[in-house]
Amino acid sequence: MGMRKDLQETTKKKTFSEMQKERREQAQRSILISCPKKIPEKKLLKHLCQHGDITNHFFFESFGLHAVIEFSKKESIASLQDASFIPRGETEFPIPFKSRFFHLNLKNPSNQTSDVQCSNQSSPLNANIIKALCNAESVENQINTLMKILQLTEENIRLRYLTCSLIEDIAAAYFPSCTIKPFGSSVNTFGKLGCDLDMFLDLDDIGKNSTTKTEGSFLMEYQVKNVPSERWATQKILGVIGECLDNFGPGCVSVQKILNARCPLVRFSHQASGFQCDLTANNRIAMKSSELLYIYGSLDSRVRALAFSVRCWARQQSLTSSIPGSWLTNFSLTIMVIFFLQKRSPPVIPSLDSLKNLADVKDKCIIDNNDCTFVSNLDRIKPSENTETVDTLLCQFFEYFGNFPFNKNSINIRKGKEQNKPDSSPIYIQNPFEISLNISRNVNESQLERFVHLARESAWILQENKGQSSKTSTEPWGLAALLLPSVPNKSKAKKAGRGQTSEAVKKLLESIKAESTKDPRATRKK
Ligand code: CTP
Ligand code: MG
Repeated sequence: MGMRKDLQETTKKKTFSEMQKERREQAQRSILISCPKKIPEKKLLKHLCQHGDITNHFFFESFGLHAVIEFSKKESIASLQDASFIPRGETEFPIPFKSRFFHLNLKNPSNQTSDVQCSNQSSPLNANIIKALCNAESVENQINTLMKILQLTEENIRLRYLTCSLIEDIAAAYFPSCTIKPFGSSVNTFGKLGCDLDMFLDLDDIGKNSTTKTEGSFLMEYQVKNVPSERWATQKILGVIGECLDNFGPGCVSVQKILNARCPLVRFSHQASGFQCDLTANNRIAMKSSELLYIYGSLDSRVRALAFSVRCWARQQSLTSSIPGSWLTNFSLTIMVIFFLQKRSPPVIPSLDSLKNLADVKDKCIIDNNDCTFVSNLDRIKPSENTETVDTLLCQFFEYFGNFPFNKNSINIRKGKEQNKPDSSPIYIQNPFEISLNISRNVNESQLERFVHLARESAWILQENKGQSSKTSTEPWGLAALLLPSVPNKSKAKKAGRGQTSEAVKKLLESIKAESTKDPRATRKK
């Protein structure tokens, strides 16, 4: 269908809120259908066209075959809903919740042929990624290949917005004008296939309706129930919505209410889309920091390239993890990449303070006494004069943080300069908006040491590999060498001989050699 444009291309020049608005509106006109394995695509589309024009559609696998159908008008969905039934089970009883998630039955399943093409929604295997990188021509080429393989596809982004929109329908049963928007890596331009879906329940629009008329002698207020704190209210609301998702939410499974966390949340798995979802409320600053990352990621292609490489490297080296703990997070790493790029001479990207100076009246934003103002219009930011290539920058990134005085200095993207560290935490990265907070407060000394050690080794590997390409090498080189299960430690390898890691590397090498004649892109498709 020719929809595989990358995120940057489709969102260039659009402000974050324009992009979000457009995507949300598109999602509201879309439905999700679980389909039988064999499905005649044309007939299905023809059938659905009875309810109105279809502007877009695609199929994907996740616990069975699914389709996303985008109508050109919202009304088509109401028409389809009118023509759909609540199934009557024999042993089970349905909760009659009419959502935009359907199940399609074939009246004549036997004589159907399937002609659908599935869009891939999951991250390819690690070995396949390394093989593809080994076949690239330069480190720069490797970095771009990595991004192409792992970045969110157009279809995956649509599916993320649709999933939020389906959950919004459920929350709207209680709060009719609430919105649920994706934030974090789903929207900040740094997400990779398979990343979690962070959702933000926004009830604030409800409050905004009060264009308070001060004239006259009366002031009408809603009669409401009061609780002792805002946190309390958030917990109550998320508790109820969590309960709803668990009881009525089609496709929502493993619902966990984690209401005592610093930021209360409901975690669940949306089985049909395959997303692990974290629903939070009252989290406007996180939305603002997602927008900030979106701006940096859209400003200069080198930001995404570098952040992608560093995030993948950290994951492969187990510097980050999906389990919370004393390690670095993707968010912290991305801020480190931004800081590093601000520190180049000339800078690749401007400081947050300069983005604030470019802001206009509309951009002004204060959240809980924190100034979150920065320019939203990308066109107002001057392109960089820095001409360094991404492979140089990647190598320099590792060298820079391999030698950074973490004991003395803090990382501050607001100023674009290091500051004196205000406390004794091993690594201090100032939260860009809540400036008295350290976003890497969780990181302990030994995790930081591992990061520094691996950064130095990686800088060394990249330097050693300079100019080397796949033609002259049968071993993983450049970025591929950095993504191996563990960067081989020279001194340790000498002493201890070939350990477990080397066994894994050996096997991988053999399979690369065996496959080296094949097209690397073939590894992508399932
Ligand atoms: N966040 C924050 N402070 C932190 C951690 C997270 O403000 N200490 C905000 C950031 O805006 C971040 C969002 O919460 O983007 C989501 O957090 P998380 O899911 O941990 O990070 P992602 O950027 O989504 O990356 P990942 O792919 O690991 O999910
Ligand atoms: Mg996330």
